[in-house]
Order: sequence, then C-alpha cells, then structure tokens
Amino acid sequence: MTILRDSAIEEAVAALAAGRLVAFPTETVYGLGADSTSDTAVARVYEAKGRPTFNPLIAHVPDLAAAERLVAFSEPGRQLARAFWPGPLTLVLPRQPDCPVSLLASAGLDTLAVRVPDHPLALRLLGAFGRPLVAPSANLSGQLSPTAAAHVREALGDKVALVLDGGPCRVGVESTVIGLSGARPALLRPGGVPAEAVEAIVGALEAAGDGPLRSPGQLDSHYAPALPVRLEATAARPGEALLAFGPRAPTGAAATLDLSPTGDLAEAAANLFAFLRRLDRSDLDGIAVMPIPERGLGRAINDRLRRAAAPRPGTPGLKGRGT
Ligand code: TXA
Ligand code: MG
Repeated sequence: MTILRDSAIEEAVAALAAGRLVAFPTETVYGLGADSTSDTAVARVYEAKGRPTFNPLIAHVPDLAAAERLVAFSEPGRQLARAFWPGPLTLVLPRQPDCPVSLLASAGLDTLAVRVPDHPLALRLLGAFGRPLVAPSANLSGQLSPTAAAHVREALGDKVALVLDGGPCRVGVESTVIGLSGARPALLRPGGVPAEAVEAIVGALEAAGDGPLRSPGQLDSHYAPALPVRLEATAARPGEALLAFGPRAPTGAAATLDLSPTGDLAEAAANLFAFLRRLDRSDLDGIAVMPIPERGLGRAINDRLRRAAAPRPGTPGLKGRGT
C-alpha cells in the first residue's frame, strides 16, 4: 500500500471544497469523487464521465452514523450496515427530508445510495473533508472500471484535480447494491459482497436488474474493452486472446492471462478489469473468456463480463454506455 503525504489529503480537500473532482482509491475500484452537497460539483461528475443519462450516484460516508443523517434506515438496512461496513456493500434507502446531498445524485428519485468504503485513504479523505462524497467508478462511461491509479490518469487525467494513489484495489469489482425502499430487499447489482452473504442476514433477495433506469430485458453494454468479448469459450480462436480461469487453461492463444490458476473467485475478481485492459490490444481480434462459476463473487464477475460482451450501441466511436 502506498503511503500518502498529509499534504496530498490537504490538497484533495481544498480541491473538493472548490467544487473540483478528486479520484481516490476504494477497496473495490477507484472513485471519481466530488462534494455531494454541491449541485455544480455533482454535475461535473456526470460531465467528466460522459454519462449519457443521469444514472444516480453513491454517497460515500465514513460510518453508519453519517449515513443515518442522509437516509432513513430500516432494521434490515441497519443489520446489513453493521455486518458489512466498512465494505463493498451499497444500500439504497429513502432520503431524509433534510438530506444535504444534491438531488442530482439521486437522479430524480426519492432514494439515495450510501456506502462506507473499506480503504484507509478513502476514510482519511472522508474524515478530512467532513461531507459525503459522491463517487462513481472513475472511468469514462461504458468503459472498464479502474483498479489502479494509472487507469484513472489515462482516462480522466485532465478532468481531475488529482488522483490519490492507493495502489491496486483489493476487491476489484464494484460494491453490491441492495435496494431497501421496496417491500423486500432487492439485488440491484451483484458486487463485492456475495449475494448469498446478504441473504444469510435478510433472507431471499428480489432480483431487480441494475438500477431503476434499466430498461427491462435489455442488457446494456458496459464495462467494455475496445475488443469484442466472447463468453463461455473453451479455447481461443485464431487472433483471439484468452481470459482463462482455473488450472486447466488451454494453451495456444495469441495471449493468455489466467484470472486465478487455483480457481479462487476473490483472486479472479481482483484481476478482472486489469487483465481485460492488458488483453485489449490493437493487434488482437477479440477476447475469449472461459466460464466462471455463477456463485459468490462469480456472480459479480459474470455480470460484468456479460455487459462487456453485450451488443454495443451503433454510434461509431461510442463504445458503450452505462455508469
Ligand atoms: O464500488 C463501488 O460501488 C464504486 C466505488 C467507487 O464506490 N462506485 C460505483 O459507482 O460503482 P457507480 O456510479 O459506477 O455505480 C452506482 C450503482 C449504479 O448501478 C446505480 O444505478 C446504482 O448504484 N444506484 C445509485 N443510486 C441509486 C438509487 N437511488 N437507486 C437505485 N440504484 C442506485
Ligand atoms: Mg461504474
């Protein structure tokens, strides 16, 4: 882990207070942070990412007490927060009447997503700034999420005041998003906390797709490399790279990276986005991906891979869309 000078945190706080964007590490992926209480700063986040729709943002807070000031917790929400915070779990709850977070972050809904990240730098920044930070993944809309500071600098370097470098992200896929404003808890996005672990606490989850703005039956292209992605591959075709999983990766592909030679899903999640980037080479024709088990973190990995493989929007030069 990189040790940061105190002056870097001070510089970040000053930039945030001036309404500028600061990228920071979390345990899942790097976030594109902004002062959640400023409409202008929140609008700049959408603008910097090139987000075509106002998909709602997550407010990051240092602890449960800070979250309770923003949203109205139900008992299941509190149980989940106690079990998994700080950690890769986001809870969507009704906004408090006096919630100071910009309505833009809720994108017109009466709910707000909140999370306490499990990363020392993120927690130091939140403590020093003293206000919640909205932070979507620090990538351009539709592209791969960043799991290292260099990924952020490549895509958004000219749009952020600074990038706090915390080294590679430990979890590697985004947080699990649980909706708690309906009759039953709903899985809005599989992520770093396995859905099974959430269900062990609050019972069966409703499957609700990815967020409220998702059109039914449609799989958005998202988390996408430039090359086409082919799933459930047993081997690479000529010109294809192979993203392998487990000990029996076939040989002979133009390039091969194994997400986890021992078949460890946590290791695979941590490697996913960085390996997709490394295989996304202009001298190759596509990326073939071996099957990943649909359990535990495998659900989050497969969700991201299905979106990476989904048909891309027709606009030339526009590779994908999403958050
Ligand atoms: O791990 C993460 O969650 C990372 C790090 C930086 O914290 N952040 C992240 O943010 O992935 P973003 O904006 O890329 O994804 C936020 C997800 C989206 O699927 C969005 O639709 C959902 O959370 N979401 C946010 N607010 C919501 C709301 N009020 N109701 C339903 N879904 C919401
Ligand atoms: Mg994202």
